[in-house]
Amino acid sequence: MNFILLCFLLVTFSFAYTPGYELSNVKISPSGFTGDLTLLSPGPYPPSVDTLKLVVNFQTQQRLRIQIFDPSKDNWQVPYVSQVNNTNTAPGEMDYDVTYTKNPFSLKVVRTSDDYVLLDTKPIQNQINGLIYQKQYIEWTNNLEANPIVFGLGERRSKFPLDLNQVYTHFAIDINHGFNDNWYGVHPVYYQLNKNNGKFHALFLLNSNPMDVVLNDTSISWRTIGGIIDLFVFTGGTIYETMAQYQEVIGKPYRAAYWHLGWHQCRWGYKNIADVQNIVDNFNKYEIPLDTQWTDIDTMDNYKDFTFNPTTFPKTEFKEFTDSLHAQHKHYIPIIDPGIKIESDYFAYELGNELDVWVKNSAGAPFFGKVWPGYTYFPDFTHPKAKEYWKALFEQYHKDIGFDSIWIDMNEASNFVEICDDNVHNYPYVPGGRCLSQRTITLESEQYISSAFNTHSMYGYTETIVTREAFDEIFPGKRTAIISRSTFAGQGKHGQHWLGDNYSTFEWMKESIAGIIHFNLFGVPLVGADICGFNGETTEELCVRWSQLGVFYPFSRNHNSQNMRSQEPFAFSEDARNTIKSFIELRYYILPYLYTTFESAARDSMPVWRAMMYDYPEDSDTWYLDEQVMVGDSFLIFPVLEEGATSVEGYVPNDDWYNYLTGESVMNKLENKVHGLHMQFLASIDTMPILLKGGKIIPAQLPALSTYEARQNNFELIVALDSNSEASGWLYVDDGESIEVGDNYSEIHFNVANNKLTSTIKNGKYQPLSSTPLHLLKFFGMSPITSLNVNGKSCQFDYNAKTKVLTVSNLDENLNDELVVEWN
Ligand code: NOJ
Repeated sequence: MNFILLCFLLVTFSFAYTPGYELSNVKISPSGFTGDLTLLSPGPYPPSVDTLKLVVNFQTQQRLRIQIFDPSKDNWQVPYVSQVNNTNTAPGEMDYDVTYTKNPFSLKVVRTSDDYVLLDTKPIQNQINGLIYQKQYIEWTNNLEANPIVFGLGERRSKFPLDLNQVYTHFAIDINHGFNDNWYGVHPVYYQLNKNNGKFHALFLLNSNPMDVVLNDTSISWRTIGGIIDLFVFTGGTIYETMAQYQEVIGKPYRAAYWHLGWHQCRWGYKNIADVQNIVDNFNKYEIPLDTQWTDIDTMDNYKDFTFNPTTFPKTEFKEFTDSLHAQHKHYIPIIDPGIKIESDYFAYELGNELDVWVKNSAGAPFFGKVWPGYTYFPDFTHPKAKEYWKALFEQYHKDIGFDSIWIDMNEASNFVEICDDNVHNYPYVPGGRCLSQRTITLESEQYISSAFNTHSMYGYTETIVTREAFDEIFPGKRTAIISRSTFAGQGKHGQHWLGDNYSTFEWMKESIAGIIHFNLFGVPLVGADICGFNGETTEELCVRWSQLGVFYPFSRNHNSQNMRSQEPFAFSEDARNTIKSFIELRYYILPYLYTTFESAARDSMPVWRAMMYDYPEDSDTWYLDEQVMVGDSFLIFPVLEEGATSVEGYVPNDDWYNYLTGESVMNKLENKVHGLHMQFLASIDTMPILLKGGKIIPAQLPALSTYEARQNNFELIVALDSNSEASGWLYVDDGESIEVGDNYSEIHFNVANNKLTSTIKNGKYQPLSSTPLHLLKFFGMSPITSLNVNGKSCQFDYNAKTKVLTVSNLDENLNDELVVEWN
């Protein structure tokens, strides 16, 4: 038996059974009910709270909120995250039915549309405790269907869906202890599939204190050591409806700028400006697209934030470098860590003292730790003056160096002083079973808003919020990215994320798939993993394979650790370079499709990466797939995740599919069939299997060396016909950088039916689109035809009878005007 399983069993079964509380004084109102809870039997870690308040609020047709707290005290309730308030009025129709038992107290929430039990906290003698609510320990258990399909509960390296019989700790930490262990961020939401009908739902426990979530094969238990029970239940529907309901509470994602979707190059260990310049020059020399050059802490003077190493990265020369990037329509992103070096005359330190914005220790003095520059203080991002402080520093830094977005790292917060002061608190139960205060700002510290015990896991999130507020003023009206290592539920509204320090191995490349799927579910669509791997030496083969996958990451950045061999696209053989280049060009080619997909994320809470079960939930063969993924609603990719492999096995759901690279049909949908086929695809090192779904229309533009230049190129449309010879798709374009675009955008919907492709202009006000006309049309799955007209003019076409690909080139059609293509 492995160690984790043993711990799990001990943790799960070591408590004597407790029935919990008795419910009384129930008061029913149109918007829900309240009640009093009185202790029946104590839990494992006395003292218990004798009397509790229950508030059940029916908020919308698909959402209810359950709060349980100690009414005799001021409870810590998570600030910032929730975008909704409790309501006083009935929501009208409700897709849920709530019942309770009084003695012992339990709640049951059933989704009325399919009678599915979303919450059932009924205690079961000697198996499942009733509610436990003690001063230092809260436990509540929800009975689930047997062998449930559950996902969410981040951040961690994990499978998708999650392994059962596991403890999922929620506590931000910069050390990776292992698979399924807690890591940089906290997202206490889980999604579940009803295996009988393919419907999804989600539950979100809004709690920021250290917490274990025990996922069993018939139940899930929350075990937190602080805060209150603040549980949102979303009745869901499709996974997309479920995500949208969750994002109504935590906020929809910040809109990505167009250039954020380009290729990003980074490493730790650039020696000087010439070194970085050389990277950019090589991208140009080999004509490989690059949008953003990044730098790591190497540019700083003794690793002090907002400074420049006077010998290797002198400010004036460095500004010349970033100016030259901008002249090429490329961008620059630097790094900032929260730890501010304690050093007199250092402006960031002096200003912090002046405004007194530091996190404090229990004695009221600034808390100090140690990070890259040595001893540091940490800004308190909940402090009312935090924005003034942070903005002043970034404003000057922006004048100095002209950066375009920011990378905020080490914000769990990481502290190299390895002191464990948990004994100060004497926690009777320690989520995760490891010292909580180790390698971070100790939990006895104080932030303006509350103790670090309460706020710890929100440090990176609050840093993101304050950085966003500062950036809204430094970059008025412009979209910027704030790529944060530590995140909390709601991150996506303000910033973005990358998966942190991975290893240069095939295994870690594979794990990135579940990680990116998960962050899309957490409402952070702009997310990626370090392409080619961070820790350890990459290999040419791994880097080629990882780049093939990485160009489909929502956020594509190649990043490397210090002292490791170079891993830029040109650091390998000519063949490898050409393959990586062709894949980066492929990303640039489909940018209009990607940008449109990101628009669906910002507007409608849609994921950019989709697990296979999302669109095929009733096909049980899709349920456990985390080695292939859909990119938007149209592409299905099969990354090569094994060393030496020249083919990939993958599952192709029952639908119409084409080989994207050749246009040939791979599968036709069979009526009345639920399952698809397991297939094997050839995948020599220079390629990766990519399928395009029948029934979809992809807008594309020829690639160029930056997204700016690619946007000047003509458009192309790839029309993948389904078995009824129909298809649809859309294109969204705006200036790619304004926060408010008003009416200055174009939104065009394409549709194919009855041998006719038409466009509907929902809005056609983005003028630059008129200068990049539709130049080429490609149809997959086309039967032979004799004539084709585009907007009334007869056109030549090429037809390949073997592949059934029909191509019409040399067009010149303004996409802001209606398009009609007819054929016979
Ligand atoms: C840790 C980050 O995760 C990594 O990406 C970065 O390169 C190093 N810190 C150095 O700043």
